[in-house]
Amino acid sequence: MTDQTVLVCGAGAMGQQIAMLAALGGYETRLYDVAEPQLDDALHNLRELMARRVDKGRNSAEEVAAAFDRLTVTTDLEVAASGVDAVIEAIVERLDVKRELFAQLSEYAPATAVLATNSSSIVSSKLADVVSHPERLCNLHFFNPPLVLKLVELVQGPHTADETIERFTAIAERMQRVVVKLDKEIFGFVVNRVLRAIFDESIYLYESGIASVEDIDTAVTQGLNHPIGPFALLDLTGIDVNYHIKQLEAEDLGDPAAGPSKTLTELYEAGHLGRKSGRGFYDYGSK
Ligand SMILES: NC(=O)c1ccc[n+]([C@@H]2O[C@H](COP(=O)([O-])OP(=O)(O)OC[C@H]3O[C@@H](n4cnc5c(N)ncnc54)[C@H](O)[C@@H]3O)[C@@H](O)[C@H]2O)c1
Repeated sequence: MTDQTVLVCGAGAMGQQIAMLAALGGYETRLYDVAEPQLDDALHNLRELMARRVDKGRNSAEEVAAAFDRLTVTTDLEVAASGVDAVIEAIVERLDVKRELFAQLSEYAPATAVLATNSSSIVSSKLADVVSHPERLCNLHFFNPPLVLKLVELVQGPHTADETIERFTAIAERMQRVVVKLDKEIFGFVVNRVLRAIFDESIYLYESGIASVEDIDTAVTQGLNHPIGPFALLDLTGIDVNYHIKQLEAEDLGDPAAGPSKTLTELYEAGHLGRKSGRGFYDYGSK
């Protein structure tokens, strides 16, 4: 028996597009959020986004119309979870809030439903003790924006059954995602760890006076063929976001030395948060 019904929890930047992918993949899709206006916004955003994708020929008008017919939204978790086959959680990145949601899902969703979190930093082990039958729980990590970036990282925790991984692999593939499987949990998974290594080394070279921000970015774009240099990317994703990720990494490792570097801390404390504030490693002029 294959899974038919997918519940996505959280209708923010990630959840709304993950729900769209599920609906496009042919699943009866429910999108749940605590905030009613967020659900209205999500539907509005998706209608606009999908109309643009139809105009550009990325999706057909028919498949998009059929997908919207399969998509329903609700603020009632009990209704949302009843009879579902799979749940993908994409709510706010707070462990206490996620733990509460997963405890409720254990109560409202069928015991046979598989459960995944889209968290960027919380491995599913940290949720396993509040979930009944934790063998059905894992991480399924999408990239932003989910409709554009095809990769998902599927992470098997020590509690996760092989069958759960097989079912989420099938779901992700029906959502036309490219699945990378992690056989063990690790902070940051694969993509963000590799990215962090590049960021850390680039900041080390800059802070050691080896080369300028501009020259390191040029070296990486021209020498490695990356579409964007590490400092331009730090500014684009946000100095604050990267500062907080380094703090989490230091906590996870129990090593304060792994925390934010001197330059990152100075920029963060000065409110130079990158493109969004008009200045980070680069100056973008007044915003
Ligand atoms: N934004 C990214 O680039 C990105 C990338 C990969 C993974 N993630 C992960 O995805 C998750 C969501 O991130 P986002 O950027 O979409 O956040 P967001 O702030 O855009 O959306 C979060 C949504 O969750 C809702 N929410 C909060 N508490 C809730 C609850 N108890 N029940 C139901 N809904 C609730 C909020 O109303 C909001 O709509 C996080 O775990 C994050 O780590 C984010």
